[in-house]
Amino acid sequence: MSKVTKTEYEKLKAQIQSWDHHYYGLDNPLVSDREYDVDYRRLLEMEQQHPEWVTPDSPSQRIGGSVLEAFEKVVRQQRMYSLDNTYNEQNIREFDERVRKIVGEEDIEYIVEPKIDGLSIELVYTNGVLTLASTRGDGLTGENVTQNVRTIRNVPLRLEGADFPETCTVRGEVYLERNALQKINEQRVQQEQEPLKNPRNAAAGSLRLLDASVTASRPLKAIVYALMEHESYESHHACLSAMKSWGLPAHKNVFVVKGVQSLVKCIHDQKVPMTQLPFDVDGLVIKVNSKKQQKQLGYTSKYPRWAIAYKYETEQAVAQIEDIVVQVGRTGVLTPVAHLTPVFLAGTTVSRASLHNKDEIQKKDIRVGDHVLVEKAGEIIPQVVKVLLEQRSQKSLPYVFPEVCPACMTSIVQVKDEVAVRCPNALGCPAQIKESIRYFCSRKAMNIEHVGPSLIDQLVDQGIIRDAADLFFLKRSQLIQLERMAEKSALNVLDAIEQAKKSAQLSQVITALGIPFVGETGARILASHAKGLDYFLNTPREEMYDRLVALHGIGEKMAVSVAGFCDLKQHRSLLERLIQAGVNPVVEDSHHHPHLQGKSFCVTGTLSVPRDQIKKMILDHGGAWVSSVSKNLDYLVTNEASSSSKYVKAQSLGVAIISEEDLMKMVHA
Ligand code: IVH
Repeated sequence: MSKVTKTEYEKLKAQIQSWDHHYYGLDNPLVSDREYDVDYRRLLEMEQQHPEWVTPDSPSQRIGGSVLEAFEKVVRQQRMYSLDNTYNEQNIREFDERVRKIVGEEDIEYIVEPKIDGLSIELVYTNGVLTLASTRGDGLTGENVTQNVRTIRNVPLRLEGADFPETCTVRGEVYLERNALQKINEQRVQQEQEPLKNPRNAAAGSLRLLDASVTASRPLKAIVYALMEHESYESHHACLSAMKSWGLPAHKNVFVVKGVQSLVKCIHDQKVPMTQLPFDVDGLVIKVNSKKQQKQLGYTSKYPRWAIAYKYETEQAVAQIEDIVVQVGRTGVLTPVAHLTPVFLAGTTVSRASLHNKDEIQKKDIRVGDHVLVEKAGEIIPQVVKVLLEQRSQKSLPYVFPEVCPACMTSIVQVKDEVAVRCPNALGCPAQIKESIRYFCSRKAMNIEHVGPSLIDQLVDQGIIRDAADLFFLKRSQLIQLERMAEKSALNVLDAIEQAKKSAQLSQVITALGIPFVGETGARILASHAKGLDYFLNTPREEMYDRLVALHGIGEKMAVSVAGFCDLKQHRSLLERLIQAGVNPVVEDSHHHPHLQGKSFCVTGTLSVPRDQIKKMILDHGGAWVSSVSKNLDYLVTNEASSSSKYVKAQSLGVAIISEEDLMKMVHA
């Protein structure tokens, strides 16, 4: 090939980028496939000659690079929330009432979007170039899937236009269209593999592949439904338009309506059209359109108050109960589960249904052999709605709940004021031990990959481990003697444990302990107070209780539970051995800098570092980041006196106005 200049290369690259955008983003191809291929090949040749010219936004980077060992973890500043679900008109009206009450206005403007059943992702563009793509994970920590997302053709590697933020963070969904799923399944059946049951699993399975070149072979698509840091846009609709103008695949099928009447009408009107989209829609997402109102509404610990999902009618199916099996949870609670003849229900094959507890079985008189109506009411585990008595065999007998724990044969107890029955043998019951270890390793706790239920079963059954701390003392030799454990898998297990040991935050370790009444939020508060695991060993019970109840967000029940937990010998031993193994993350004091703790900051004008860095610093030091000025604001940070509305408002409200330098002094004081 003749010598090429960098300018020629850049020109060709820009041309192919534009063709890609027209083809994948706008569904409007500009050239024939043949023409495209010729130029694309020429681009590859140029890149072979000049590898130093290749940047992450080159169309060639969509093919997937090296095979990864594992996905890196990505910790984000702003949690990826999920949505509260509703199922009927009444629920929608209640949502509207709650919104109106807080906003204090009638006829709220809503925007209605399809809810695609896929996998949520976050994309970060730095100066317009895609630099990071991550999965939702537990909301705060996801997986770095940038290589894989680069292969998704309608995700631009570079944004168009010029008015995008320097750091542009968007969120959306990766999915497969129905046809694509069908094709993959036909192939799988031909190759005698199980067909994939639903688009969500298929999308997740295709995206979370360590070899991105395989992802590239799956026709994944993405849509974006949220723009983060959107201060300059007044409405969600404006954010969608802005994202579209930058070449991002924002939803097209959205509807803006005013007032609850029109909202309800829109939901009904869209029911059929939604089924005609090329992808599966499992409901609608309803969002308050005004960004100002969204801010007023804020978030609960799990959901935004300004958005809700409207899930389509739940499907029901008839199945026969083959058996009722009683499972023992990590706290000893016995849960009966119905084993069913497999039925296809709302996209998946169902063979289990939760029966909740002893009372529920009695109340519904559920018996082995019965035909029952099952449904998935938003929960993942299907529920038994009712027994079809007309199909009951005359021979069937009422179900008798066991009186001893099925795992350790200890007599079960009914705890006062609880519906649940428990196995009281916390220390010796293998089922409780296994479940506690599973919980310890789970995603919301220590997030240890490769240590799944069957490995834990083997390790406990063979007496190799007795509690979660023992995991950190596992040796290669103990692993490779297990069934189905090759050298490579053993190393993966040890690596995953080591990795979790190094990367777990204190709040994750506290969650992992499984202290009753302590969830993720409670664990975070405890972590910022305790600063290290030693706190739980070294603080006397009474003192711990007194200190904990004084904390904002920790109630009586949780304080009693934590102090009691730390007093028990087996828990103290667990904590001691965790520390001994090196699982002892500490929370840095700076996170609780007295000067920024409890103070709110708003920034206006240009500072010497980008806005998102300032924000991170403020949050890291315990301060709150606020995007508008109100009388509750503590400081407005700016480097120049100006006539900006924030400045004027802060002055008129008497809010302290400080410079960037003042802020730095506060941080480093
Ligand atoms: S908005 C804070 N919009 O549904 C608002 N979510 O439980 C968060 N989803 O995991 C989500 N389509 O990935 C939003 N148009 C849409 C969506 C959507 C699908 C997913 C999302 C999330 C789940 C909500």
